[in-house]
Amino acid sequence: PIIPAFPSRAIGLIKLRHVALSRAADSFVKNIISLATGSTPVGMYKEIVAKHKKSEVDFKGVTTFNLDEYYPIKNNDNQSYIYFMKENLFNHINIDMKKVNIPNGEAADPLIECAEYEKKIKAAGGIGLQVLGIGQNGHIGFNEPCDVFEAQTHYVTLDESTINANSRFFESKEQVPKHALSMGIKTIMMAKKILLLVTGEVKAEILKKTITGDITPSVPASVLQLHQDVIVVADEAAARFL
Ligand code: GLP
Repeated sequence: PIIPAFPSRAIGLIKLRHVALSRAADSFVKNIISLATGSTPVGMYKEIVAKHKKSEVDFKGVTTFNLDEYYPIKNNDNQSYIYFMKENLFNHINIDMKKVNIPNGEAADPLIECAEYEKKIKAAGGIGLQVLGIGQNGHIGFNEPCDVFEAQTHYVTLDESTINANSRFFESKEQVPKHALSMGIKTIMMAKKILLLVTGEVKAEILKKTITGDITPSVPASVLQLHQDVIVVADEAAARFL
């Protein structure tokens, strides 16, 4: 079952971001980690960069994977997730970029890219720590609400609701890519530890469904109830129904 890290009344955004940081940062030095994009983890990445500046974390030898990437998208497009990760984290820490793995939005064949990405994760020995955000529709990575859980890294057609939600980062809705490459539910669930970060009132309803609702592919994040080691870090606004 999901273990909320703290009683919701004790939850404070800043404090939790620090806690999230410490837990994640500790695991960073020990594990192969898989990272998330979106606005939620930005604060955690800032804290990690600050810790790194004080020589409190070392990324030499660390391998990272990322959950997902738009498709098609140029790597140097400022909306790509590889661009996001460089801007928010990789350009500011001593990570070896050869050990950084993100699905390639420029791949000629998205299906081959997905299969190869999945192989890379297996070859690395699996994910130690998986950092997750959550979409307003319950998606994790880009695993959209569906009739079945997609197991492995796969080619996704984005939901209209995801395109609408993510259009805030683009000049117009039309510019949001219609597809993505995403690690699958099994890929995520095989991680030894999962850290789910949730902030804002807009996520309150879906967080409640995720933790207390039915386990169903129509709320992809609900599958996390079946994982043995999940920490949910939420601010008061997101945890208001818990
Ligand atoms: C995107 C990403 C997800 C992320 C979600 C929430 O669509 N693919 O991995 O968790 O959006 O984003 P935000 O944190 O900005 O709400």
